[in-house]
Amino acid sequence: MIFYGDNANKDLSEKVAHLLGVETFYPEIHVFPDGEKRVRIQQDVLGEEVVVLKSLFMPVDENIMTFAFILDALKRRGVKSISTVVPYVGYCRGDHEFRTGEAVPLEVVIRLIEMSGAQRIAFFDPHSIKFPEMFQIPATALSAVELFAQKIKEIEPNKDNITLITPDMGGKRRLQLLSDHLGGVNCASIQKERDLHTGQIEIRQSKGEFRGTCFIIDDMIATGGTVAQAAIHLSEKGVKDIYLMATHGLLYGNALEVLKKSPARKVIVTDAVGIPEEKKFDRLEILTLASVVARYVKSL
Ligand code: R5P
Repeated sequence: MIFYGDNANKDLSEKVAHLLGVETFYPEIHVFPDGEKRVRIQQDVLGEEVVVLKSLFMPVDENIMTFAFILDALKRRGVKSISTVVPYVGYCRGDHEFRTGEAVPLEVVIRLIEMSGAQRIAFFDPHSIKFPEMFQIPATALSAVELFAQKIKEIEPNKDNITLITPDMGGKRRLQLLSDHLGGVNCASIQKERDLHTGQIEIRQSKGEFRGTCFIIDDMIATGGTVAQAAIHLSEKGVKDIYLMATHGLLYGNALEVLKKSPARKVIVTDAVGIPEEKKFDRLEILTLASVVARYVKSL
């Protein structure tokens, strides 16, 4: 098996390769002055089973095209198979027409990945449960849930003192999965609404009991608005120990300021996307997905 790592997430790539006991190769990428790219696979991969790791994050469109070129280059080199691990799939929130006349970007991204040569794909904690069904190639949803369960147990060993909270109704299944990993714990939810024009988050209502150490769980932290507003809501209800957890620490826009100001003790994300030094802060903890990725690759 030949493993190609993600140029934009070398830490995760090297950790996965180490667990697999293989070398990490990176495609050669040359950017022309006009922004176009030349992507080249230097190795002789004829007849090989290839695994490509690549998150489709900022700059999203650029990374999507680069990924498609990598797949195409591998196909042209005559590989036996191409399996892909895409921890974060850009446009995952664009999975349907929100308003009449809108494109469905996720559909376009998926078709491009398939057309370029991916024969199977795995991703982490997709935004919607329907996500795997949108693919025509075998698609596997991996999860950071076991890593979060482990971390939660370290923070709060008494399971009767744990409350898991989803900041939107779509996250209920994720919460249930995490609760099962923890042997069944108290779960609650907060309902938010986002203004489609300004992006501002407003908490509409909450359900359940917020007690003990509270963990707000989401699939992603983008601008930080959702989890930060949820944390403020809990704090106003008198909760003292609040932790924010999300698989995809995208942290763009004003996320850093928003999160630093939030009443949460810690913000815990994974290395699904590479987090640059300037986005790290003392209350941010990054868990690695390497063991889950390596286990999946070994199972192929
Ligand atoms: C939305 O449905 C997602 O599950 C996240 O809650 C959301 O995308 C997070 O975005 P932000 O951090 O910008 O509020």
